[in-house]
Amino acid sequence: MAEIWKRTHYCGELRKEHHGTDVILTGWVQKRRDLGGVIFIDLRDRTGIAQIVINPDKGETFHLAERLRSEYVLSIKGRVRNRPEDGINENIETGEVEVEVFEMNLYNESLTPPFALDEYAVVDESIRLKYRYLDLRRKEVQKNFFLRHQVAKTIRNFLDEEKFIEIETPMLIGSTPEGARDFLVPSRVNPGKFYALPQSPQMYKQLLMVSGFERYYQIVKCFRDEDLRADRQPEFTQLDMELSFVDMEDILSLNERLMHKIFQDVLNIDIPIPLKRLSYEEAMESYGSDKPDTRFGLLLHTINHVVKDCGFKIFADAVAKGNVVKAINCKGMASMPRRDIDKLDEMAKASGAKGMAYIVLKDGEVRSPILKFLSEEVLDAILKEMEAEQGDLIIFVADTFTVANTVLNRLRLFLGEKYELIDESKLNFLWVTDFPMFEYDEENKRYKAMHHPFTMPVEEDIPYLESDPQRVKAKAYDMVLNGTELGGGSLRIYNADLQAKMFKALGFTDEEARSQFGFLMDAFQYGTPPHGGIAYGLDRLVMLMSGSKTIRECIAFPKTQRATDLMSGAPDYVTDKQLEELSIRTMKLD
Ligand code: AMO
Ligand code: AMP
Repeated sequence: MAEIWKRTHYCGELRKEHHGTDVILTGWVQKRRDLGGVIFIDLRDRTGIAQIVINPDKGETFHLAERLRSEYVLSIKGRVRNRPEDGINENIETGEVEVEVFEMNLYNESLTPPFALDEYAVVDESIRLKYRYLDLRRKEVQKNFFLRHQVAKTIRNFLDEEKFIEIETPMLIGSTPEGARDFLVPSRVNPGKFYALPQSPQMYKQLLMVSGFERYYQIVKCFRDEDLRADRQPEFTQLDMELSFVDMEDILSLNERLMHKIFQDVLNIDIPIPLKRLSYEEAMESYGSDKPDTRFGLLLHTINHVVKDCGFKIFADAVAKGNVVKAINCKGMASMPRRDIDKLDEMAKASGAKGMAYIVLKDGEVRSPILKFLSEEVLDAILKEMEAEQGDLIIFVADTFTVANTVLNRLRLFLGEKYELIDESKLNFLWVTDFPMFEYDEENKRYKAMHHPFTMPVEEDIPYLESDPQRVKAKAYDMVLNGTELGGGSLRIYNADLQAKMFKALGFTDEEARSQFGFLMDAFQYGTPPHGGIAYGLDRLVMLMSGSKTIRECIAFPKTQRATDLMSGAPDYVTDKQLEELSIRTMKLD
């Protein structure tokens, strides 16, 4: 075993002022070049790269250097010197100096890596994930984890100053059917019984408020067995918090200061606070989404009042049925080729619409497949309502509130990107507030909680919990950044009777509510303080702060879209013996 040399400097910190300094560096070989008998090596550690030079007169050391290949790991003793004028590399921070090597200590060799580890190498993601430990050697990949560390550190410092304490909650808990699907864990000592991994510490953090901790936070793993997307992983990290004796304004303003601090300390960006607020209703009306990207226009308008009696049956019928007709004025897009308009129509249908109507204002004319159904007055009224001018394209969808918004939101985001309307330099934070308490679950034909069943309804709406659930608003809020939901929370119900009413409104029988939430309802009878909180997706926050395209870039060992770990092969079959111990028998389904 080689003796471990203690480094004196990191590779990335060498500068002109180190000229003449004796140093010990440690790291990996990024690249080796042999030039006229002299060997140059780019030596890489976690701070950057230093060029080291081995001259042929160095005997053993030179012979060792001749053997070096990419990713061999070593230490060197040498002296820093300024590079000759023509050797200066302006692309790297240490480009003005190099280290002349006296001695070398090789710790380990390396197989040839499956891909080059320099920053120019574009590598297929599946290869990157299979060899994640090598991928993570790359500076541009590593930097997200240093950023993530800074973010977590800033959060901890800030919340500590604000008198929060970090408390761990259990990972093996009871399963509840609300929300996403649970990951289940069989209990060996309780045959046939299962734990669930937490989707969030929600109930436990509320119990900590019952216990009198008053201000809790946790940076915590959460697990959700849901369909994955770019900003979703089956296991992800929340910054979770809960506070007692606060109202909504207290929570929002504390969280604004937290975000301000994070962006200030980590990125040196001064985000203006208080943050803008948009009600759920306004967000849905103008963006068709409860997490609107407000960096560009293309706003949605409901035009029911204009088309309610028009000759185009699809519009008139939609209004008569209580549905909506919504439109976007795609400013200046009248020259969009017909095939692109057809593509929008296809996209609309793929997202659930029955069709997409449009009007083009071009060459002094108004053209549209639905023109023949519209009287001049109605057409004028539509154009006026949409503030349409020559050069514009207007698109329409008539459908249920949900479908029309889903479809037009999708088309808006698509067009925003395609026509490069999104100002990437902007950080548009906002709170979305005044959420409905319930949403209708088409699949199960019942109402479910839009946030979760512990959310406090607005007082005036409490009498309508059962008779008219749709009108009930919740004291809930989401924080949105550039069209991504960063976090969400609410004030909570802290009264056992109201909580019981809520479970009833959600269709739980008394027995179901007791068996799943009995411990919480019991706890609520022992002097529960008013409380509320919020949780953020830490991976998402770091994704947006680092400008990454997916949260996988900000998770050290992420899963694929199919929830597999390409490196370890998880999930995998287990032995019959293991299953037997767990009293589990598996079946093959076709
Ligand atoms: P919610 O379900 O909104 O609220 O989750 C909070 C935040 O967690 C992040 N998030 C995810 N990130 C990555 N992958 C996922 N699969 C994933 N799912 C959620 C999002 C989201 O905004 N207990 C409540 C919070 C509360 O009421 O205090 C909760 O979990 O950024
Ligand atoms: P049709 O008479 O069915 O051919 O439809 C006339 C136009 O209306 C076509 O351009 C369709 O794409 C469009 N259309 C059909 N259904 C809808 C709808 N639900 N909302 C908006 N436009 C629609």
